[in-house]
Amino acid sequence: MNKAAPMIVPRALRIQDDDLFVVDQRLLPHQLCERRLASLADVASAISSMQVRGAPLIGATAAYGVALAMREDASDLNLARACTLLVATRPTAINLEWAVLRMERALSPIADGERVAVAFELARIIIKEDEASTYAIGRAGLGILTELYARLQRPLVIATHCNAGALATCGHGTALAPIYAAHEAGIALHVIVSETRPRNQGLLTAWELGQAGVPFTLVADNAVGQLILRGRVDIVVVGADRICANGDVINKVGTYLKALAARDNGIGFYVAAPLSTFDPDCASGELVPIEERSGAEVRHVSGTDRFGQRVEITVIDESVAVANPGFDVTRAELVSAIICERGVFRPQHLAGDVAT
Ligand code: MRU
Repeated sequence: MNKAAPMIVPRALRIQDDDLFVVDQRLLPHQLCERRLASLADVASAISSMQVRGAPLIGATAAYGVALAMREDASDLNLARACTLLVATRPTAINLEWAVLRMERALSPIADGERVAVAFELARIIIKEDEASTYAIGRAGLGILTELYARLQRPLVIATHCNAGALATCGHGTALAPIYAAHEAGIALHVIVSETRPRNQGLLTAWELGQAGVPFTLVADNAVGQLILRGRVDIVVVGADRICANGDVINKVGTYLKALAARDNGIGFYVAAPLSTFDPDCASGELVPIEERSGAEVRHVSGTDRFGQRVEITVIDESVAVANPGFDVTRAELVSAIICERGVFRPQHLAGDVAT
C-alpha cells in the first residue's frame, strides 16, 4: 500500500471568542463562506435554513445555540424557550434532540448565575466528543475496507449518498470517515457520489473529497443501481439521521433504493453513525417523523452562470403538485452492519450490544 499525500479535510465549524463560526453549506461547492453565529436566533436560523446540516453537526450546533441563549438570558424560562425552539428546527435527525436535551438536563438543576459557564463548557465537550467519534468510526470502518481490499486485490469502488462527511459533523464525517482512513492508509479507492436531489448534498461530498484528494466520480442519483448491477461498485457506505431500536435506519431520501440494489446484487450495505444518532426510544422506522420539505426545492435548481454569478432557475411551475420527503427508511434486514465509535454491529443486535 502506498501512503497518500497528507489530506486536507475541511472543518464545518470552529469557535472564536465564544461565538460559533460555521461554513455556509448553501453556497458550496461554488463559494466557501463562513457565517458567525452569535445568538440563539442565529443558530436556529442556520439549522432551519440548512446553512448547517447533517445530523451530528446540527446536534452540536444546537448545543452551542443553548449556550448562546444562556449568554443572552440564563433564566428557566429562556432555557425552556431555547430548547423548544431548537428542537423544532428539524424533525428527523435525532442528534438534534439528543444534544439539546443533554444541555437542558445539565442546566436545569443549576442556579442561573452558573449556567453560562457550564453551558459553554458542555457545548464544547459535545463538539469534541463528536469529533472524536468520527475518528473512532473511521478506525472501525477501516477494518471492513481493509478486509475487502485484501479479498479483491484491486482498488475499491465505494458508493455513498448525500453528505455524511466532514461537513456533516465536527470531525471527519461518518460514512466518509472510513473512506478518509482507508485513503490515508494507502488503500486504493474510488468513491461513487450520488448528486442527492433536490438539495444536492452529493455536491458537498464531491467538494470535500476533492479538497482531501480522494478520487471520486459524481453520478446522477438514478445511476447507482445500474453501476451496482454491472458489478462496478464493491460496497455502499452511508450515514444516518436516526437509527431505531430494531436497527431500522433513517437517512437521506434515496438511501433505501441503494440498499435494495446492494441486497439484490450481493454487495455490502453499511451505515456509519455515532451513538448520538441511535434512538433506543423509537421502536422502528415507521414511527419516525420524515421531514416534508418545500416543493420549491424540486421546482427550482440553483447554480452559477457562465460569469460565476449565482442563479436559480425554474424547472416546473407552481401548478404542478410536488412531494419532497427529505428522508427514507431502510429496514434493518437490508443493512449489513452499523459502524459506530464502539465498533461494528449487526443492526438487529444494537439494543444489546450498543445502546446500553
Ligand atoms: O438534510 P441533511 O443534509 O441535514 O441530511 C443529512 C443526511 O441525511 C446525510 O445523509 C447523512 O448521512 C446523515 S448526517 C451524517
